[in-house]
Formats: sequence, C-alpha cells, structure tokens
Amino acid sequence: MKLVIAANWKMHKTGREAKEFCLELLQKEDDYKGVEVLICPPFTALSAAAAELKDSSVKLGAQNLYPGAQGAFTGEISAAMLKEAGVKYVIIGHSERRHLMGEDDSLVARKIEAAYENGLNPILCIGEKEEEREKGITEKVLKKQLAAALEKLEPGQVKSLVIAYEPVWAIGTGKAASADDAASAADFIYSYLDKHFGKDAAAGVRIQYGGSVKAENIGSFVTLEHVHGALVGGASLEAGSFSELVRAARKAVEG
Ligand code: PGA
Repeated sequence: MKLVIAANWKMHKTGREAKEFCLELLQKEDDYKGVEVLICPPFTALSAAAAELKDSSVKLGAQNLYPGAQGAFTGEISAAMLKEAGVKYVIIGHSERRHLMGEDDSLVARKIEAAYENGLNPILCIGEKEEEREKGITEKVLKKQLAAALEKLEPGQVKSLVIAYEPVWAIGTGKAASADDAASAADFIYSYLDKHFGKDAAAGVRIQYGGSVKAENIGSFVTLEHVHGALVGGASLEAGSFSELVRAARKAVEG
C-alpha cells in the first residue's frame, strides 16, 4: 500500500513562500516515487501552490472546509471552492479545530460528507488528549470519534479514507508517541473499521500517525503493520527537511 505523507502547514506561509517551498521540494521529486506526498497550505496560498504542483506528482490538500454548498457563512470555504482550486485531499477534524475552535463530532461528520459529495478525499483526524490517555480511555475516545465521523458512510467510501491518528499530547510538543502506542492505536482503528465496514474497506484505509514526526523517527511509524503514512506539522515547514523526511520514510519501507 502506498504511503501517504501530508504536510500540514497550519497558519504558516504566504503564497510567495508556498511557491518557493514547492519549487525546492520538486527539485528532488524523483526521490518521492512510491510515496503519495501532499502539501496542505492555508487557503490563501492554495492557488500559488497549485500552480507550482500542477505537472508534478505532489498533490494539494486543504486544512478545513465548511459543509455548506454556498450561502451566508462569513469566513468559510466550501468543498466545491477547494475542488476548483485544485485540492484533492482535505484535513478534517484536526485537534486544533476540535479543541481551539470548538468543532464537535457532528460537524466533523458533516464535513466528511461534504468532502465526499464534492469528490475530495478526507483525512479524518482523531486522537486522545493527555488526560484521557492518563485515565486509560484512549480507545473509548477513538471509538467515539470514529463512530460519529463515519456513521453515514458506506463501506465503499470508507475504503478511500485516510485516517490520521494524532494523540493531542504529541502534537507540536516534540514528544512523539512511542511506536508501541502508535501501533496499538492503529491496530484498534483497523479492527474498528473491519468490524463495522468489512475487511475490504478496512484494508483500503490508510492510517497515518501524526504528532512530532520528523526524519529521525518516521521510520519507526511507517513500518508498523497498520500505519501507512504520516501527517506532519512542524517538520513540514522547510522543503529540505520535509524532503528528507519523505526519503527516510521510503527507505524505511523499501529497505
Ligand atoms: P506536529 O503537528 O508535527 O508539529 O506535531 C502535527 C499535526 O498537527 O498535524
């Protein structure tokens, strides 16, 4: 299964900076063969990135969408707008949106549906907070997030999902989860999908690990049985280090 490695820039980079990044990243494009590489810039840098990535194998992702077709939703961006901007993937339910912007499970579910209705591939983010981990309820939290987000989906849709397991305590802290923790969360997600949507759907889903991923540790995640990629924040901001991270992932799986 092809690895999917996504750069989540969060609120970083102007259009000019996005263009410079893409130009540098594409210099080593041959090194990314066999890996699906995605860049998820802020909305205002999407068109600049799209122009640079147009004839390349690197794909464009967005960080969010609003689940309405159009209308009085000041400040929001629809799935159709993203699609026209050249976006293929969209991050949904990132922990910063859930916990800083107050997004709940039902909004996340509506966003996933809107993505599918418009031909975008969702990257559904789930993960437990530190206090939930300490209480030993990680699986309960993951199950609740999965159940709400996937409730209305058919197995055929689930099959093309990317699910990012991102423990909240590992995001931007430099304290990545251990490979054992990531493996048990990914195994749990896989069994949940298998139980509710069947083997075929579960086997199609690519599960990413996210949270303080860098070139030095990515190999320990992408070699796990049910992990097929990473969602990368801080280490995706410089083309050189992101490119190195993709190469390290490829080397770890291909040997
Ligand atoms: P990080 O962010 O790599 O900076 O921890 C990951 C994410 O939030 O997707």
